[in-house]
Amino acid sequence: MATSSHLFLLAAAFTAIIGITSAATAASPAPIGPSNLTGILDKGGQYNSFIRLLRSTQIDKQLQSQLDNSFNGLTIFAPTDNAFNNLKPGTLNGLSSQDQVNLVLSHVLPRYYSLSTFQTASNPVSTQASGPDGVYTVNVTSTTNQVNVTTGVVESQVNNALFSDFPLAVYSVDKVLLPSELFGAKPPTAALAPKPEPAKEKPKKGETSAEEGEAQKILPEISLMTDVLPT
Ligand SMILES: *[C@@H]1O[C@H](CO)[C@@H](O)[C@H](O)[C@H]1NC(C)=O
Ligand SMILES: *[C@@H]1O[C@H](CO)[C@@H](O)[C@H](O)[C@H]1NC(C)=O
Ligand SMILES: *[C@@H]1O[C@H](CO)[C@@H](O)[C@H](O)[C@H]1NC(C)=O
Repeated sequence: MATSSHLFLLAAAFTAIIGITSAATAASPAPIGPSNLTGILDKGGQYNSFIRLLRSTQIDKQLQSQLDNSFNGLTIFAPTDNAFNNLKPGTLNGLSSQDQVNLVLSHVLPRYYSLSTFQTASNPVSTQASGPDGVYTVNVTSTTNQVNVTTGVVESQVNNALFSDFPLAVYSVDKVLLPSELFGAKPPTAALAPKPEPAKEKPKKGETSAEEGEAQKILPEISLMTDVLPT
């Protein structure tokens, strides 16, 4: 922990508050600190595709620097390698590099959520991705012992925390959270069905249905984005 004592105290106080309401997150002391995001994922053992994507888009550096300067913290949904393997071939390669950046950033929420604070999140929840139509969002639904996240295209359970200690929470998800802003025009089955031949296909740009566009215009006036760094 090479952070300033100020940040440490802040983190300690926050953790203490959260700890009272969340027995689940208190049980996972991790030796690797939030200063090493890829280290946390690496230790998880099954997040190599996500690590590669973080590196190739350079979002790893952006998030790392954000963590060092953040008062709200970050929550990251980390899809497993299996989740990436289940994508239709060409899904990632069919995206422009800017859309790949947005795919990654749509797995990042600009504040720290423990599993219990997810229950108080109000939908839709802003992610760090944004496009011409505004900020990409996800919806979080939870019961007392289960949290789900949905993009409208894909729904996944929020599984074990790889790390959960303010300012950083990293949760395992078993699906890549394809944003409706990028994949919404296609039915979920088309986006998920495996195809035998790895055909190179270009996604049709501007192929956003009317309903989809309408749903995305309903954005909350959330001012949590104050710590987002310019790209
Ligand atoms: C992050 O953790 C990995 C181990 O998973 C290690 O190889 C790497 O050197 C660490 N990086 C930093 C900056 O501590
Ligand atoms: C979460 O999703 C699963 C299917 O993936 C579903 O069975 C379950 O009811 C959902 N739970 C909540 C709280 O939405
Ligand atoms: C997300 O939640 C909002 C508010 O409850 C709702 O209007 C919207 O339809 C939901 N979207 C999805 C994809 O579930």
